[in-house]
Amino acid sequence: MKTLLPIPGSESALTLHRYPQRKNETLQAFDAADEYMIAHASTWSVGKNARILIINDQFGALSCWASQQGFDVFQVSDSVISQQATIENLAHNDLAGITQLTSLDTLPADIDAVMLRVPKSSKMLTWQLQQLASVTDAHTLVLASAKAKEIHTSTLNQFEHWLGATTTSLAKKKARLIFTTPTKQLVPQPDPVNDVDVPEFSMRLANWPNVFSAKKLDIAAYLMLPHIPSQAHLKRIVDLGCGNGVLALQAARNNPAAFIYAVDESHMAVASAKHNLNRHDIDSRRFLCEARDCLTGFEHTDIDLVLCNPPFHQQQTITDHIAWQMFCDAKRVLTTNGELLVIGNRHLGYHTKLKRLFGHVTVVASNKKFVILKAVNA
Ligand SMILES: C[S@@+](CC[C@H](N)C(=O)[O-])C[C@H]1O[C@@H](n2cnc3c(N)ncnc32)[C@H](O)[C@@H]1O
Repeated sequence: MKTLLPIPGSESALTLHRYPQRKNETLQAFDAADEYMIAHASTWSVGKNARILIINDQFGALSCWASQQGFDVFQVSDSVISQQATIENLAHNDLAGITQLTSLDTLPADIDAVMLRVPKSSKMLTWQLQQLASVTDAHTLVLASAKAKEIHTSTLNQFEHWLGATTTSLAKKKARLIFTTPTKQLVPQPDPVNDVDVPEFSMRLANWPNVFSAKKLDIAAYLMLPHIPSQAHLKRIVDLGCGNGVLALQAARNNPAAFIYAVDESHMAVASAKHNLNRHDIDSRRFLCEARDCLTGFEHTDIDLVLCNPPFHQQQTITDHIAWQMFCDAKRVLTTNGELLVIGNRHLGYHTKLKRLFGHVTVVASNKKFVILKAVNA
């Protein structure tokens, strides 16, 4: 696995790792889209102190490069993991700190250049381009990149629609660049939030654009809802990887005396969960919605129930290591006899993982595709 990213026009290289760093890591912290973008940005004639806005940097490769050039770097990210990876990679490479903003913060003004990794969600892209339109003009250099297969005509149309004239590069190592000249500043802003109704459970769930399954309720979440327990002894409940907070909300309703922690690594997920708990009249003294990498830094060890519909992607890569980290973290925070309730696709094999960790696992419900498992912290 490659950890050295050569810097164009110099003898030096950046050493980059994913976050959290794992033993025997097989996945790189940068890809061809990062390399292509850095190679192109190295040809820019911008001043030493130029203000560079970097959006959706994955593990900090772009931000580290820009910091190394001496630029004034503003990084916008929806992901706690990307933010943390950036902090660690800057430190490994002895680079100056940068300004980190979340996806919900207002973009800084007077930006000289923008480097944007095209996000997976087209709604997120719309939101980010529309934000960019208000801080860029025809003098701002705007460069975007993605894997070639992720750049569709509709993607380019979005750039044209929200910003201005757009062209693309040839593909290189299966990545492509997008160049845009921003000329459109007064386009009406779309509402970033999408409401999803779940009438069977009397829910209307708001979803900020980067939230998992923002357009319709995830089928696994829907299957999990009727199995969320309602028991008087449940005083502290964690919804781990809460997304829009659908499971947290049902847990709060079923257990009116319980305190609910809703945790996700996406800032937009955390904002959505908070909004949805408030919207459904859950007393704000009864819950806390927090952006974290799994339960890193979560100090409580008296949790009675953890609910988890784990992710099986990190950025664009399919992986089960986050699920494993979530299960390990759940075990650490559960009280004796505390329960972890997990839903997953059958083929993901969560049963084996949970058995290894907890010793015993019960099947609560299942259908052809999904299984709900319970593990008790004996
Ligand atoms: C399958 S979705 C489930 C969302 C929601 N609970 C539901 O059931 O619809 C998994 C969630 O885990 C979040 N996630 C991914 N990696 C994470 C991590 N390292 N720490 C915390 N949350 C994470 C994702 O942002 C996503 O919202």
